[in-house]
Amino acid sequence: MSKDTLTITDNRTGRTYEIPVEHDTIQAMHLRQIKVNEDDFGMMSYDPAFKNTASTKSTITYIDGDKGILRYRGYPIEQLAEKSNYLEVAYLILYGELPTKEQYDEWEHVIVHHTFVHENITQLMKAFRHDAHPMGMFIATLAAMSTYYPEGRNISDPWIRTKQIHRLIAKLPTVAAFSYRHSRGLPYVYPDNDLSYTGNFLSMLDKMTEVKYKPDPVLERALDVLFILHADHEQNCGTATMRVIGSSHTDPYTAMAGAAAALYGPLHGGANEAVLRMLMEIGDVKNVPEFIKGVKNRERLLMGFGHRVYKNYDPRARIIKQVADEVFEVTGKNPLLAIALELERIALEDDFFVQRNLYPNVDFYSGIIYQAMRFPIAMFPVLFAIPRTIGWLAQWVEMLEDSEQKIARPRQIYLGEGERDFVPMADR
Ligand code: SDX
Repeated sequence: MSKDTLTITDNRTGRTYEIPVEHDTIQAMHLRQIKVNEDDFGMMSYDPAFKNTASTKSTITYIDGDKGILRYRGYPIEQLAEKSNYLEVAYLILYGELPTKEQYDEWEHVIVHHTFVHENITQLMKAFRHDAHPMGMFIATLAAMSTYYPEGRNISDPWIRTKQIHRLIAKLPTVAAFSYRHSRGLPYVYPDNDLSYTGNFLSMLDKMTEVKYKPDPVLERALDVLFILHADHEQNCGTATMRVIGSSHTDPYTAMAGAAAALYGPLHGGANEAVLRMLMEIGDVKNVPEFIKGVKNRERLLMGFGHRVYKNYDPRARIIKQVADEVFEVTGKNPLLAIALELERIALEDDFFVQRNLYPNVDFYSGIIYQAMRFPIAMFPVLFAIPRTIGWLAQWVEMLEDSEQKIARPRQIYLGEGERDFVPMADR
């Protein structure tokens, strides 16, 4: 009769060990009993970049990388992108269920009525250089927000946690829009609470002398779908950072500043900005074969391709390509699209990419849409961070409420010098 255990034989000693298997996983701590000598520390697992290590149990997002499946709380991303909106998906990701009308109306009312930031924060943002990168402004301002809401440190109080979550979801589009206006040398536009979540964001970005900004409904909806697609993605680099920083029991503003800093990297959420710069560098479809040759010679990466988990087409990239067509109807086609499509065509049939399971990821087409919507390239990571706020916060709450979690503190394999005595400078 089969047992849910692993039998390990240590050939160094001939001893065998029965290790329990749960969820097709073994607990690394169960390896510590494997020793050669009684006073040994015991065995550890070694997994740089955590390529095969589960750091937590979670019920929020499910990804099947081989099948290209992504679900939030069990709902397929394709259905949410088609039938829901970002604030409703944010509620689902945080609370685990789709809201009733009453729950949604209350949730939307609270978010819409927390969109203003303290005037001090507005003044603080005005101190940045005129050409400061918006993501740098976003991260710094996010950290500074912890000094305006000191009660946020009471992370064990569910009501105080909820209040900070409302503030962060509501205020970060305002901070993001202010960083954009700052980089354009334009006066900051305050929130318009009559508009939708993405409509208000577009108003704070684009409103000029008109009395009331009217968002283009196609662009408003396109941004809402893009926000849904970026809301959460299990234990990615930014979210893992949120959990690690949050495990020290700091406040959510400080933890999220760290998560946003991780997202800023060009291998992660900064990839959408890197994709656009790559397409602009290629410049013309006729230069694509030469560029692909450079990638295959390992001179550079094909930004927007590849994924640690997806070894199939990122389902978000497929949806984003559909959104692109709707946006280009309004904005006109982005000339870089032809280069992107040719890169994709070659990559999907070339052995170098096929053998490495390199498919377009969420960042490959999102940048083309953002540029067509006239967002400056530097804003692209900020446009990723805004919707990912709910993912970071839901995962943070799940970590705090998980009795198996403690402060994160990985081990290491020490391969450095043995003990040695200090050598006076004169004798070196
Ligand atoms: C996001 O985790 C998430 O969920 C992230 C994200 C989210 O929603 O939070 O989905 C968002 O970050 C998407 C990824 C955006 N990043 C990029 O587009 C940057 C380009 N992609 C690569 O840097 C890379 O694909 C990663 C970082 C995304 C994944 O890298 P892995 O899983 O560590 O894979 P790897 O580096 O081990 O690569 C395997 C092989 C290597 O070749 P070999 O040494 O085996 O011969 O594939 C090659 C790599 O050199 N490779 C690439 C490549 N990505 C991997 N070669 C060329 N171009 C690429 N883009």
